[in-house]
Amino acid sequence: MNPVTEGLPDSFWGIPVPGPVALASGTCGFGLELDAMGLLEDVALVFSKAVTPEPRDGNAPPRIHDTGYGLLNSIGLANPGLDRVLSEVLPAAAGLSRPLVLNVACESVSSFGSTVAALEAGGSHAGYEVNVSCPNVEAGGMAFGVDPAAVASVTRAVRLETRRPITVKLTPNGGDMVSAAKAAEDSGADAVTVCNTFLGMKLDWRTGRPVLARGVGGYSSPALLPLVVARVWQVGRAVRIPVIASGGVWEPGDVLELLAAGASLVQVGTGLLRRPSLPSELAAGIRELLCGT
Ligand SMILES: Cc1cc2nc3c(=O)[nH]c(=O)nc-3n(C[C@H](O)[C@H](O)[C@H](O)COP(=O)(O)O)c2cc1C
Repeated sequence: MNPVTEGLPDSFWGIPVPGPVALASGTCGFGLELDAMGLLEDVALVFSKAVTPEPRDGNAPPRIHDTGYGLLNSIGLANPGLDRVLSEVLPAAAGLSRPLVLNVACESVSSFGSTVAALEAGGSHAGYEVNVSCPNVEAGGMAFGVDPAAVASVTRAVRLETRRPITVKLTPNGGDMVSAAKAAEDSGADAVTVCNTFLGMKLDWRTGRPVLARGVGGYSSPALLPLVVARVWQVGRAVRIPVIASGGVWEPGDVLELLAAGASLVQVGTGLLRRPSLPSELAAGIRELLCGT
């Protein structure tokens, strides 16, 4: 059975959605600017920039580099921090025309729990995206996501604090994503997001020095689509919870391909940075493609 020709999703987590396209974390802020421009009409859910317990300026510049084939970023989770998100951002986001899912990033299991507990007081957001790509300081800086036991601990810590739906955003950089996804499912996640950016680096061969100040960054590019399709396919066959695809979407057919691979929702990130009207263009293109099926 091809899920695409069976009909596109009209709801996710019980929330009515206009289609399968959602906005990826870090590429749309909290959705406020795009909403003010009327650009959320065809957006299922808005996944916010990562919220961290403390405000973060992020990494030193240069922190973004266009390779010509894709984008390298080492933004470093720049965000206003928990207190200002609670006092300023969430009240402003209460009027958003589409539901907001808060992406949360922390450096310890207990901090994930306490950050989500604090955000619970904060308003009408639809759920959480738990970013396990960040370093686990209790485990020597290794990303939570590479260790299924750490993914389980984080998921359980967040689950204890909220009844809102949770998706765990997995990392492609090390570890076994299928095991991490199963650990998230067994620990109470309502979905998994597959996946964050791929570790990459650009060197200036003249100096031998990296172009990004931090050295390495996360790479995103339409060329990554087959890597994400494979991971969505593998994870989708291993878990019963929905898979949210994230990575490599440029064209309407890319969205349909990820749905055919087993995704229930498809995020767009780098494509959105290039063209803020991309979600509506994708929606129109999908309608056109499916007309003949
Ligand atoms: C500039 C930039 C900032 C990002 N910031 C975050 C973030 O704060 N949290 C997160 O989970 N993912 C973040 N991501 C990853 C995206 O949400 C997305 O998973 C990834 O870019 C793959 O999708 P794409 O190929 O459509 O860009 C960021 C990506 C970019 C390009």
